[in-house]
Amino acid sequence: MTTSELTKSEQDQLIKKATQAINSSYAPYSGFKVGAALLTFPGEIFTGCNVENASYGLSMCAERNAIANAIIGSGQDTITIKAIAVANSHNVACSPCGACRQVIWEFGQNAQVIFQGNQGWQTSTIKDLLPEGFSL
Ligand code: THU
Repeated sequence: MTTSELTKSEQDQLIKKATQAINSSYAPYSGFKVGAALLTFPGEIFTGCNVENASYGLSMCAERNAIANAIIGSGQDTITIKAIAVANSHNVACSPCGACRQVIWEFGQNAQVIFQGNQGWQTSTIKDLLPEGFSL
């Protein structure tokens, strides 16, 4: 399967839903609220936000929570991510962390990733962000 082009409307919708998901974020320790929204191949959208913990290392990123919501909500054995967008409360450059890149890779080796870069919103492929993802 090759990377599918996203329509402008799909991109706009993912950015809007990722931005809305910021409002659900639980980030009392960093104050850095993050929202994510992903589009699966059947065309469903699922969202997630970061959920922090007093034991800092147990905090979970928005992207991985969106993926967990998609796994639960899809009703299928697995999901295939067409695209995922991530937005943050500080409106600063923020691409998915390494752990999230590996988890996105698990569910969509051709996924497109929409995030705020240094010049504003940009779209990359997960392959560009994680060139040698781990697979078993
Ligand atoms: N965070 C995310 O949720 N996604 C990212 O792509 C980058 C970082 C969260 C983790 C933590 O709750 C806060 O942002 C500060 O690192």
